[in-house]
Amino acid sequence: MPTETSSFDPVEVAALQPENLQRNVDEALAAIAEAGDLDALKSARLTHAGDRSALALANREIAALPPAARAAAGQRVGASRGRVREALERRQAELELERDARVLVEESVDVTLPWDRRPIGARHPLTTIQELFADVFTAMGYEVAEGPELEAEWFNFDALNIGVDHPARSLMDTFFVQAADGSADSGIVLRTHTSPVQARTMLSRTPPIYVVCPGKVFRTDELDATHTPVFHQLEGLVIDEGITMAHLKGTLDHMAQAMFGPDTVTRLRPSYFPFTEPSAEPDLLCFVCRGDSVGNPDRPCRTCGSEGWIEWGGCGMVNPRVLRACGIDPERYSGFAFGMGIERTMMFRNAAEDMRDMVEGDVRFTAAFGMES
Ligand code: DAH
Repeated sequence: MPTETSSFDPVEVAALQPENLQRNVDEALAAIAEAGDLDALKSARLTHAGDRSALALANREIAALPPAARAAAGQRVGASRGRVREALERRQAELELERDARVLVEESVDVTLPWDRRPIGARHPLTTIQELFADVFTAMGYEVAEGPELEAEWFNFDALNIGVDHPARSLMDTFFVQAADGSADSGIVLRTHTSPVQARTMLSRTPPIYVVCPGKVFRTDELDATHTPVFHQLEGLVIDEGITMAHLKGTLDHMAQAMFGPDTVTRLRPSYFPFTEPSAEPDLLCFVCRGDSVGNPDRPCRTCGSEGWIEWGGCGMVNPRVLRACGIDPERYSGFAFGMGIERTMMFRNAAEDMRDMVEGDVRFTAAFGMES
């Protein structure tokens, strides 16, 4: 053993002196006792038992001692560190218990509270009615077609035989869309009806064509009980060989009975639309008075205004000029078309009287319609 180290006195190594170790232990125990929560205990552990704590440093000094002195110093440091470790474990267990008890109180869930106070949303009845229409027609082999809400004037008007000077063009209360350069004439409008989808469909498919198109349409009306600037229509279009008005009437009857019940009675009243020839308006026999109010001032009917019939939409045989504009040979093919108001359908079907209820989105209104599909 080298002489320099044999004379080494371990008591002289300050970190290993018993009173210093004792002081380190006392400080550690005090800090541990003071730690009021797990975070504080964590930092006490780091300071007093971590790699750079006084006791860890003392432990490292042992290696520098001559072998004969190591055992006693090792025991002293080991005992000190053991006391600190034990105190840390005890305090850790205590603080965990405290935390668990606190969490149980703070995060408890009262399972007796009512769970159904907040109303869940409901699908809007306009959506479910459009889906019902789509179901009725897909069951007959129709497809559902779509078109853009921002529509080219050509599709909205010209293709449908509504020329620039046609009175129907100015009667339509159209929202015109400004061009990006600020000039008024962009050639784009918010579609005023779903009929442009007829033209789009004829141009993109070859007959036989059987489609319906539910969708939003726009007119410059103020919102009140009977008008809204955004509303919905269902367009129908059939193009095939040998299609007659009888097919149209049968289809409308089937649709009316599917929407309003098997007793529904319809009639076709002659009318005019530029894109159909001949044209008609399908009327429904009033569900409320069933015609009894007509000429009967003692029993007026609010639903039909004592007319006996309710207007439901427009229809007719597709005008050959429209067929030609859309690339279909009118000598070979004929077809019918119809357009119904979805809001109007809902008003009759569900006795919804005020258009504003339909646009306000109040769940108390929509929920009343349930989740019918
Ligand atoms: N597009 C018409 C409107 O909004 C309704 C209409 C009438 C649609 C006759 C048709 C039709 O398909 O054949 O007033």
